[in-house]
Amino acid sequence: MLPTSEQPAFVRTVAVLGAGYVGLTTAAGFAHIGHTVRVGESAPERLATLEAGGVPISEPGMDDLLRAGVGGGRITFHAANPDAVAGADVVFIAVPTPEGPGGVVDLSSVHTALESIGGFLDQGAPVVVKSSVPPGSAEIIRRAMDEAGIGNPLVINPEFLQEGRAVEGVLRPHRVVIGGADTEAVALVAELHEPLGAPIVRTDAASAELTKYAANSYLATRITFVNSIAHLAEDVGADVEAVLDGLSHDPRIGGHYLRPGPGYGGSCFPKDVRALVRAAEAHGHDLRMLRTVVETNDAQLGRVVGKLSAGLGNLVGKTVAMLGIAFKGGTDDTRSSPAIALADRILAAGATVRAFDPAATVERDGLELAGDEVEAASGADALLIATEWPQFADLDLEAIAAVMRGRLIVDARNMLDRDAAIAAGFDYRGLGR
Ligand code: UDX
Repeated sequence: MLPTSEQPAFVRTVAVLGAGYVGLTTAAGFAHIGHTVRVGESAPERLATLEAGGVPISEPGMDDLLRAGVGGGRITFHAANPDAVAGADVVFIAVPTPEGPGGVVDLSSVHTALESIGGFLDQGAPVVVKSSVPPGSAEIIRRAMDEAGIGNPLVINPEFLQEGRAVEGVLRPHRVVIGGADTEAVALVAELHEPLGAPIVRTDAASAELTKYAANSYLATRITFVNSIAHLAEDVGADVEAVLDGLSHDPRIGGHYLRPGPGYGGSCFPKDVRALVRAAEAHGHDLRMLRTVVETNDAQLGRVVGKLSAGLGNLVGKTVAMLGIAFKGGTDDTRSSPAIALADRILAAGATVRAFDPAATVERDGLELAGDEVEAASGADALLIATEWPQFADLDLEAIAAVMRGRLIVDARNMLDRDAAIAAGFDYRGLGR
């Protein structure tokens, strides 16, 4: 159960610029607490969807949360940013910060948003950057604000949302990190979040920026470590699943983010790790460990494809059934999806891919889409489990065996019961087992 809406000590008017994933979740969360939220969205199609009561992001529970805010009159949408910030006590910037050339984060949408509100802000209303920005960005953003004639305080308040758990993440955050030089502005942003009951870390801007990138880089490193141990387990004849079980009971280690896979993907980890490496370089600092993480993660795709070619001899003319297209289970998001990267390598090696995913889709020459697992497996020489959708753990192995031409299963998520797969007559190859 999620907490019910509580009236905060005093309600504020919050502007949120950008109705993407981060902006909409932020807006829905603040409205749930009781604040008045004015969302600025410049893309006409997205705005039209929102105004018609639609929700342009696919996230469990988000429709209800957002509609409750709109229905209760606490969320309004605005085409022009000056309208959105009119009368706002605080302005959140939640525009995209994609990867630019050379792994450097592209802040141009932040700059455009700032230019659009110069001269329209209430004096003293803090400008809060929710978009992911690497260390050093606050100084650049401060200069851009000065150029746009915005003397208001700047606050960095990074978002830690995980896809598929955004509602939980916004209503019950593990922590709220707020950084800035103006203590009053930091206090105001802290007060907005107080009803959530989460620990609040008040700090300077650079520390807030670094916290976000350090968190994602740590988790990406942990996954890469697990994949490296799985690789070693194969060479020393160990079972990585037993090793991970043994590790996870140590409270200093814990059991989260210990699943071997084809490498981390998604819209955040790959981009953020590279961005931290670049940001460090800009300060003359070589983050060698994270460079190795990036390289090791990229190499993991080759290891998975290598298992297919080792099992099939040669991929030319073969058909590979691929279960999963999304970058992880529980989402239709395919950004930096390891599954798609695997499909591209398999296609390049001369095979056909027949893919099934419960939510995601992709278009590629030589890639066919199937309606379910068995259809994907029909006539296939090998089956590849690429995404950790829970339903793949319960595959009907007999039905799959009955329709496949070959017997190879490459389980790049270690989801299947190895013994059951072998008993069903498969040549089962997981990671590190
Ligand atoms: C991540 C962070 O968790 C979130 O805090 C941040 O704000 C954005 O980036 P998300 O991209 O939704 O969130 O994905 P996450 O669930 O963390 O998974 C990232 C990738 O790591 C996926 O490709 C996933 O399959 C992989 N992964 C995760 C593993 O391979 N093994 C694991 O044990 C966990």
